[in-house]
Amino acid sequence: MAILSPSILSCDYMNMQRDFAACKEAGCKWLHVDIMDGHFVPNLSFGYSLVQSMRPVTDLVLDVHLMIDTPIKYAENFCKAGADYLTIHVEADTPENIKKTLELIRSLGVKPGIVVKPKTPAEAIAEYLPMVDLVLVMTVEPGFGGQKFMADMMPKLKQLRGMLDEVNPACHLEVDGGVDLVTGEVCKENGADVLVAGSAYFKAADKPAFVKSIEA
Ligand code: DX5
Ligand code: ZN
Repeated sequence: MAILSPSILSCDYMNMQRDFAACKEAGCKWLHVDIMDGHFVPNLSFGYSLVQSMRPVTDLVLDVHLMIDTPIKYAENFCKAGADYLTIHVEADTPENIKKTLELIRSLGVKPGIVVKPKTPAEAIAEYLPMVDLVLVMTVEPGFGGQKFMADMMPKLKQLRGMLDEVNPACHLEVDGGVDLVTGEVCKENGADVLVAGSAYFKAADKPAFVKSIEA
């Protein structure tokens, strides 16, 4: 049994509240919110005020993915805005600051997560695994929706599930990028239990069927 986390990067920005309600109606439990700063990734998206505006209008779990440099500067704002999970990139700061940021997030009552880009090995996050509630493996280079799924990330996904089983078995293992009904199956076979889908979900004609099938 997996969880779908639809990426709102692909929703209709003029009708966000309607789309969030439709996600809930389709059976979704989470929403994935991609935050981009134009430095860590070559694109811009939303700020913490969007999370703040979302919080009163949806009770879905807000899974916030920070693709920003030095997340320690902004983590508190996102926590106070209403994130349920706040996930930072291991490549975005020094090991000392990454640890401090994860601790800060937890101290504010939010679940911390750590992400690896495609070229970053599993070993790079080994020391943080006991501290987090979610590990995210990117299956595209972060920055844009609609890219092709990188199947060569599957050994790393499997390796991380094995590492988590040793030190933090309750931790979620999430994948993000190019996930659809077909690639989602491959991710689940390799240990993922949370699947982010942006374009595939928002393009699906029958959303309840998509949720049912990807979460099966
Ligand atoms: C990419 C973002 C993803 C993106 C996924 O950098 O982190 O969450 O929205 O979009 P799809 O599912 O279209 O690849
Ligand atoms: Zn994302």
